[in-house]
Amino acid sequence: MGILTGKKGIIFGALNDKSIAWKAAEAAAREGAEIVLTNTAAAMRFGTTKILGEQLQAPVIAADATSVSDLEALVESAMAHFSGQFDFVLHSVGMSPNIRKSIPYENINYDLMGKTLDISALSWHKLLQVLYQKDAIRKGGSVVALSYIAADRVVSGYSDMADAKALLQSITRNFGHIFGKERGVRVNTISQSPTMTSAGSGIAGMDKMFDFANKLAPLGNASAEACADYIVMLFSDYTRSVTLQNLYHDGGFSSMIVSAEVL
Ligand SMILES: NC(=O)c1ccc[n+]([C@@H]2O[C@H](COP(=O)([O-])OP(=O)(O)OC[C@H]3O[C@@H](n4cnc5c(N)ncnc54)[C@H](O)[C@@H]3O)[C@@H](O)[C@H]2O)c1
Repeated sequence: MGILTGKKGIIFGALNDKSIAWKAAEAAAREGAEIVLTNTAAAMRFGTTKILGEQLQAPVIAADATSVSDLEALVESAMAHFSGQFDFVLHSVGMSPNIRKSIPYENINYDLMGKTLDISALSWHKLLQVLYQKDAIRKGGSVVALSYIAADRVVSGYSDMADAKALLQSITRNFGHIFGKERGVRVNTISQSPTMTSAGSGIAGMDKMFDFANKLAPLGNASAEACADYIVMLFSDYTRSVTLQNLYHDGGFSSMIVSAEVL
């Protein structure tokens, strides 16, 4: 439909073709956007971000989202590439070393928890702050991060990622308030269904959680492709008055308690 025609933006987190960010980059390009892709240097070595860059004719720039200097260099490069301000950013970044090492929440390692919070939540504040300080986003622009319902309700096994997502949503409201008031820029999170990606598959019991959510949600789990379409809509002008929100994209799961099928 070309709803992003003339728009430009940065997409974080396309590791492989299962990544939500990968689908979002494809959908944004399909809708007419120009894109810069970014991921960590390590992810670019082991993942396939560069292949996506070639497919979409998008520059791929390495940046660690926890490093303010990397984020500054990335935003400067994007502004040089786009010849000025741009319109959207997707933060599709998350990782918990505690989950990776199967350390239970009640026995958590606090150094690792600090890393979880830095990668999965503080990086969002750092990104917003760099974008704000460099006045990188055009008025009416849209910045989106990905969340999960464990920010609001208990999902056993989601461990310190639940705390990171709660902080991510709080930063969305608090920074979004300033970004909206001062610059007319929208800031939202999308709370996505369980999705079979590298990050998703790392959660203990993910297969069972995926099946449970799929049965409980009246529309079933939302796919990564459907999430990409929702992200594109949030980047578009059709959502120009939506900001400070955590938007459930989960087939209706978040409003359910029980269904005949699950019982
Ligand atoms: N998969 C799910 O079930 C699910 C559900 C809801 C929300 N989410 C969220 O969606 C987002 C994307 O995850 P995904 O499921 O597509 O998995 P993914 O593994 O494909 O993507 C996670 C990305 O984060 C990147 N990353 C990790 N540390 C980084 C750092 N320091 N700097 C920059 N990038 C870094 C990885 O390289 C990877 O590309 C995450 O925020 C995740 O928490 C996922």
